[in-house]
Amino acid sequence: MDTVSLVESSPLQVLCPLEHIPDGGATAVVAMLVDGEESVILLRQGEHVSGYLNICPHAGNRLDYAPGKFLLKNDTLICAVHGAVFQQADGLCTGGPCCGQHLRSVSIRVIADAVCLEPAGQP
Ligand code: FES
Repeated sequence: MDTVSLVESSPLQVLCPLEHIPDGGATAVVAMLVDGEESVILLRQGEHVSGYLNICPHAGNRLDYAPGKFLLKNDTLICAVHGAVFQQADGLCTGGPCCGQHLRSVSIRVIADAVCLEPAGQP
């Protein structure tokens, strides 16, 4: 699984307050990554937040049906364009036109109730 890294030596980026993501839900934010600004999916389970690029490996579309609105069901995320089903835990596609491919992971850390991008090179 590919992981997207930040620009070397970039400062910590705060993406949003944790409370902006419903527990068990998702949202999308814009983050500055190596290749420029990208939409990032944030998925929350309690105090844990997972991040993926908002780019479907099938046809390169965004996965949300409206900005920041995602189809979530039974720990999966479903692409709104052609229905590919991704595991929320690791971004693996388990059904649909890109079965076996992964969403690109973005390293996220929650610090004092702020959802932040993990600095480059950090575990
Ligand atoms: S673009 Fe996501 S399933 Fe086709």
